[in-house]
Amino acid sequence: MTLDAREQAAAPIPAAEKAEETASSSGAPQWHFDQFAEGLRQFGIGVPFSEGMSGVPEVTMQGRQLVNFAPVNFLNLHSRPDVMDTFTDAARRYGLATGGARISQGVTRPHIDMEAELCRILGKERAIGYATGMLANIGFIHAMSNKQAWSDDMRIDLTDVVFVFDRDNHWSLWKAAEKLEYGRRLFSFKHNNPEHLEQVLQRLRGKRVVVVFESVYSIDGSVAPMHDLVDVCEKYGALSFVDDANGFLVYGAQHRPFAKEYAGMYRATFIMISLKKSVGLEGGLIVGPRDAMYSMEALNMASVFTAQVQPPTAATAAYVMRLLTQQEPEIIDNYLARVAYFRQRLIDEGFELNPTPSIMTSIDVGPEPVGNAIKEAFLERGYRIPVYLFPAARKNHATMRLILNATHTDEHIDGFISLMREFRSKFGL
Ligand SMILES: Cc1ncc(COP(=O)(O)O)c(C=O)c1O
Repeated sequence: MTLDAREQAAAPIPAAEKAEETASSSGAPQWHFDQFAEGLRQFGIGVPFSEGMSGVPEVTMQGRQLVNFAPVNFLNLHSRPDVMDTFTDAARRYGLATGGARISQGVTRPHIDMEAELCRILGKERAIGYATGMLANIGFIHAMSNKQAWSDDMRIDLTDVVFVFDRDNHWSLWKAAEKLEYGRRLFSFKHNNPEHLEQVLQRLRGKRVVVVFESVYSIDGSVAPMHDLVDVCEKYGALSFVDDANGFLVYGAQHRPFAKEYAGMYRATFIMISLKKSVGLEGGLIVGPRDAMYSMEALNMASVFTAQVQPPTAATAAYVMRLLTQQEPEIIDNYLARVAYFRQRLIDEGFELNPTPSIMTSIDVGPEPVGNAIKEAFLERGYRIPVYLFPAARKNHATMRLILNATHTDEHIDGFISLMREFRSKFGL
């Protein structure tokens, strides 16, 4: 509950509005979960579980061995013995939990180490860790639109701050901004379009603005022209926030693709990362200028009212960050070569892919029922293929999002491609 909601909670309950759709003949409210749940069952939507390790290229589910294209921890580092040893050693040394929220209980040495490592990599002054990337995003938008005053000397009011979003921003960002009235404190610009951002910022001259966009977009793998976007932000004195959940540790080095775009990202005021993807754990962090991040410790309710990543996760995150940037950066180079090979195989077969050759390889398969039927057809043949439906993808554009795993074998790839060939005419692929 936000403070605003708590204040509202003291107000009298408004008279009930007429709600014919949600009332039964007896007048009792109807919830319709039975009908919706039945629809989900018919659609085959449910949460599967793995008997053994999850998020690996081969999983056992419901007694079947499946080739798994669903995991987003695409380097499969979480099953590497040295990574696991780091986790278990840290669990014994620092325990399984911090025992409270960041600001009340504090954090452990591994959290400090993880945050320092991230600052080193991204060239920023201070970092804060969160239980997930989504919480980091929600907390950031909340903090940057919040106010706080415990004394006359310690006060800040950000309730006039305006946000400008790329239209394809992740659900967590849009959700966080829901309470900001669109057209007053929330605006958007056309996806990856610096010229349109400039037009929007021109109209917002004189206001305190935070421009929010992603580096690599999940569904179509498009990469933001971050240099140009940050140029526009700087020209208009706006702060910038980049959600780098997808590209973290993959892109940024000079010799890798999108180096120019990433050079722009390093100039952004704030950068958010998720530990779920290249790092292969769970958690999120934000880095930024020292005092802004220090302020955020108290302004950001996602670190005041909830837990942080557990100590062994923090220790392992720091270990993996060093592994991928210093000890074995070739893990990424080899992975990118493998993704390029996979993509080329699909192109050679004549499939229409997302235009940007980033780590996301996706195929738009049309309306949601078609997407679901494709998923089921692959499943029957022993392949878990992620097909994203609205709201994770655009309405009527169910999308196969294929994040190749570094440990997928040639056999896995060949098997997938031969099924694609087989299903081509059946599903219009
Ligand atoms: C662009 C983007 N931002 C944020 C998130 C949320 O991150 P997390 O899964 O760590 O909560 C995701 C997750 O997939 C994402 O793709």
